Amino acid sequence: MSAVPTAPIAARDGSATIPLLGLGTWQARGDEVYRAVRTALDLGYRHVDTATMYGNEADIGRALADSGVRDEVFVTTKCPPDRLGREDETLEESLRQLGLERVDLWLVHWPPHGESGSLRMWERLVAAREAGRAASIGVSNYSPELIDELTQATGVTPAIDQIPWSPSDHDPALVAELERRGVLLEGYSAFKRTDMADPVLDRVARAHGATPQQVVLAWHLRRGFVVIPKSVRRERLEANLAAVDLRLTDDEVSAIDALGR
Ligand SMILES: NC(=O)c1ccc[n+]([C@@H]2O[C@H](COP(=O)([O-])OP(=O)(O)OC[C@H]3O[C@@H](n4cnc5c(N)ncnc54)[C@H](OP(=O)(O)O)[C@@H]3O)[C@@H](O)[C@H]2O)c1
Repeated sequence: MSAVPTAPIAARDGSATIPLLGLGTWQARGDEVYRAVRTALDLGYRHVDTATMYGNEADIGRALADSGVRDEVFVTTKCPPDRLGREDETLEESLRQLGLERVDLWLVHWPPHGESGSLRMWERLVAAREAGRAASIGVSNYSPELIDELTQATGVTPAIDQIPWSPSDHDPALVAELERRGVLLEGYSAFKRTDMADPVLDRVARAHGATPQQVVLAWHLRRGFVVIPKSVRRERLEANLAAVDLRLTDDEVSAIDALGR
């Protein structure tokens, strides 16, 4: 199997990369998420996405510690907006549960109410990066305009925006807006937001002897979008990772792009 492609990501030391395919973990807890992360890391995943809100950081921390590859794994977690004013403690608690000295990426999970709330939380993320507790920092569920407010006030642009994304969400104007700002697009819920019976996906999948899910993932990789499919089943973790070997033609990519707005 080919290596998972990576993208450069803005970091304090300027030299970080993020694997474009990672493991989502929302709604997976306890031994189930422990086993999923162990299996994923055994298969070759090197990127795990979690959040304070998911209540699974301690289980993921155990899996990372037992995996033998903890230092190779890109770990993202997120600060919930209701932790406004308690951001530093929230990150320390995430780090303790994950068993890490620093996370690779810390995100604002979604915008806190009001402009100043969003800015105050972002200032704490900037401070965490300065303190070396998060290599890179970003946001989730932000519009380009909201991102501009953070950049203008602090001089630090979020490295990434994690947003709902799938072929049916594809919006070249939004892609261009994020690109112009140097913000990586990380998509979430790629499967949940896709009609897997779509004739275009079906045709492309058949042409490659692949599944529509693999086509969706291959499209993200080809377009340079970060994607974090969640699964707790070995055969699906394996199939999702195998999408790195699915090479779509230019015509196929264009046909999938056209499923968007
Ligand atoms: N920032 C945010 O606000 C936000 C919001 C939502 C999600 N996220 C992140 O994004 C990740 C992914 O999003 P998501 O969990 O909402 O949805 P998703 O990855 O689109 O879909 C997950 C669902 O698809 C199933 N599945 C996985 N692989 C499959 C395959 N090959 N064939 C058929 N079904 C498959 C999973 O079931 P099994 O587990 O049973 O295989 C699960 O039910 C989350 O886990 C989380 O880390 C972030």
